[in-house]
Amino acid sequence: MRVFLETYGCQMNVADSELMAGVLQRAGMELVERPEDADAVILNTCAIRENAERRVLGRLGDYAHLKLANPALIVGVAGCMAQHLRGKLLERKRVLDLVVGPDGYRALPELLRRAAGEPVAAVRLDRDETYGDLEPRREPGVRAWVTVQRGCDKFCTYCVVPFTRGRERSLPLPDLVGQMERAAARGFREVVLLGQTVNSWRHGESDFADLLRAANDVDGILRVRFTSPHPADMTPRVIEAMATCERVMPHVHLPLQSGSDRVLEGMHRTYTRAQFMDVVAQLRAAIPGVAISTDIIVGFPGETEADYQATLEAYREVHFDSGFLFKYSARPDTRAFRLPETVSEEEKGRRLTELIDLQMALSAEVNDRWLGRTVEVLVEGGSRRDGAQLHGKSREFKTVVFADDGSPAGRLARVRVVGATAITLIGESLDAPGAQPLVSIGG
Ligand code: 5AD
Ligand code: SF4
Repeated sequence: MRVFLETYGCQMNVADSELMAGVLQRAGMELVERPEDADAVILNTCAIRENAERRVLGRLGDYAHLKLANPALIVGVAGCMAQHLRGKLLERKRVLDLVVGPDGYRALPELLRRAAGEPVAAVRLDRDETYGDLEPRREPGVRAWVTVQRGCDKFCTYCVVPFTRGRERSLPLPDLVGQMERAAARGFREVVLLGQTVNSWRHGESDFADLLRAANDVDGILRVRFTSPHPADMTPRVIEAMATCERVMPHVHLPLQSGSDRVLEGMHRTYTRAQFMDVVAQLRAAIPGVAISTDIIVGFPGETEADYQATLEAYREVHFDSGFLFKYSARPDTRAFRLPETVSEEEKGRRLTELIDLQMALSAEVNDRWLGRTVEVLVEGGSRRDGAQLHGKSREFKTVVFADDGSPAGRLARVRVVGATAITLIGESLDAPGAQPLVSIGG
């Protein structure tokens, strides 16, 4: 069977698609690049906001079309939306043959075979499934996504994830070390540890600080990142591990969501604004120059103008390096879904636009501070816009582009910053062509 996988949503889904690809390949199935060449297409979907689901429903229309030309084509929906809509999706029998939730991937080959005969649903959540023993088929590159935890127990009142991905589970430490070692052996130079609340990872006596140290010690891995930590689990032990592990990068994506204590309580975020600021202060004291990015939701039910102003003020106070900014989207199953929406779509739009303006101004200021300084860039490859440019990330996770100096992907280059926008740093390589790389990378 030839399978085409299409991925929507967060990094966790990208990692899950690599997991599915590994499962399929081991079962002798072939992965193809185009839906036209496939016997089965699987959409790995997201349910976090309504527009994510709308996009996928639209895409199913395209596949209905393809199915007219090829009636044997199996169309499957996997991931959060599959779990979220379950039966409702199967009602679209005309198009859909398979609905599989995030805990059903181990049996994917078998499910696909069955789906060739009759519509199949596998949407039982499983408290114990971690897929820790299954090797993903990683997309080539310098960065390996390593899922270290699945599910979420926080139950923020706006969020559908605890319902779509189920209870929090951590992958065992030995499985993770094995995965990272194999990634390094295959040429990956950076690992990104993934979990919905990644810093609440635990296995036996080990906590997330121990996991960071273990990742830091994997031979061949030059950089370690993680996303997304929950502010309430940002313990001094974790901060200490970040500060002392040379390969753990000085960047934290720390979702604030709102700067108003009233709204934070309504969201059940379990921290106050002051507690968040305290974590930021600890990070900055322990890790000089640490970059901090965030997530913000505007227009949560009951958010007043004063609450919103508190968010702007908090955003300024932290002076975030960057942020993902969202309009609140009511999700069925969540507690907030039952709350009356008090902020109109138009007003949400105004709040979002204003916040984006603030973010762009602050990001431009932060990036201007890099002018004239030298950054270490892990080269990822040619710049998409301009073939003569290379691009990569600085230690702080800023995108840096610079003229091609012949550095291969995977090399750490020294680059002087000569220009900056809110989004990108523009640099000049300090490594003469053919110069000794900062680190030597075999193969
Ligand atoms: N509406 C808008 N944004 C949401 N997020 C999660 N749920 C919702 C929702 N219902 C945002 C949060 C989270 C990010 C991944 O998505 O900011 O941190
Ligand atoms: Fe959703 Fe909150 Fe869990 Fe993040 S911590 S996945 S926002 S419930």
